[in-house]
Amino acid sequence: MSILEVQNVNKSFGGLKALQNVNLKVEEGTIHAIIGPNGAGKSTLLNCFVGKLIPDTGSVMFNGQSLLGKKPYEINQMGVSRVFQTPEIFGDLSVFENVMIPCFAKRDGAFRMHAVGRVERETDIRESAEQMLIDVDMIDKKHMHAGSLSRGDKRRLEMAMCLSQNPKLLLLDEPTAGMARADTNNTIELLARIQDRRHITMAIIEHDMHVVFSLAQKISVLAQGTVIVEDLPENIKGHPKVKEAYLGEAAE
Ligand SMILES: Nc1ncnc2c1ncn2[C@@H]1O[C@H](COP(=O)(O)OP(=O)(O)OP(=O)(O)O)[C@@H](O)[C@H]1O
Ligand SMILES: [Mg+2]
Repeated sequence: MSILEVQNVNKSFGGLKALQNVNLKVEEGTIHAIIGPNGAGKSTLLNCFVGKLIPDTGSVMFNGQSLLGKKPYEINQMGVSRVFQTPEIFGDLSVFENVMIPCFAKRDGAFRMHAVGRVERETDIRESAEQMLIDVDMIDKKHMHAGSLSRGDKRRLEMAMCLSQNPKLLLLDEPTAGMARADTNNTIELLARIQDRRHITMAIIEHDMHVVFSLAQKISVLAQGTVIVEDLPENIKGHPKVKEAYLGEAAE
């Protein structure tokens, strides 16, 4: 069953057609990679899933409900979390405090418990936040200032913050961008473990083909705003359309 279904999505910026008739299905429980050259429209597409952009035409359905016209926080409360291209953490707070924040949602001017998190008391929230840090192997850095973390650890922290929201669908925009190989490999292990333990569906935008072919169960290739191929990883390498349109490692 598909948890996310995109049909005929178009999005233009002035005269630039960033997305043209995009169709995409993300099956529940899978890791789905979205790849393609710079400027292909990958981030634009992701922005249409989280309420940051509204497509000109087309539909985006999550668990059978339309996401179009919903505010980002409403989409978040429906169970969609996103790891941004640049980590959005609170540098002056501790690692632990950062993970505590998403356990609350600011609604109607007052802090309330996050609807999805099902945590009721502060002690529960603390336990839940600790578990997130264990899951991303950062419990030993709990008291560190978030601003002093390495780039890889900032990404891990952001993932822990997303996991605290107990998402059904996790969207990741280039989770390993700028990471050294060791950090990249740690991230691959981490994402595989998250999928294994929590069965969270993930859509990952990624340029690093080592990451893509290590994790993805399905791959969509985007070129000039259109999905040119959606297939199993083994059918992507060497695919004539991918070769023609995409000059990355996926074509080799
Ligand atoms: N807010 C915007 N206003 C105008 N043009 C935009 C805007 N956002 C994106 N674009 C353009 O839309 C096209 C798709 O951009 P997008 O950021 O989605 O590409 P991408 O596939 O994520 O690329 P990259 O791999 O470099 O991150 C590009 O030509 C970009 O310049
Ligand atoms: Mg991008």
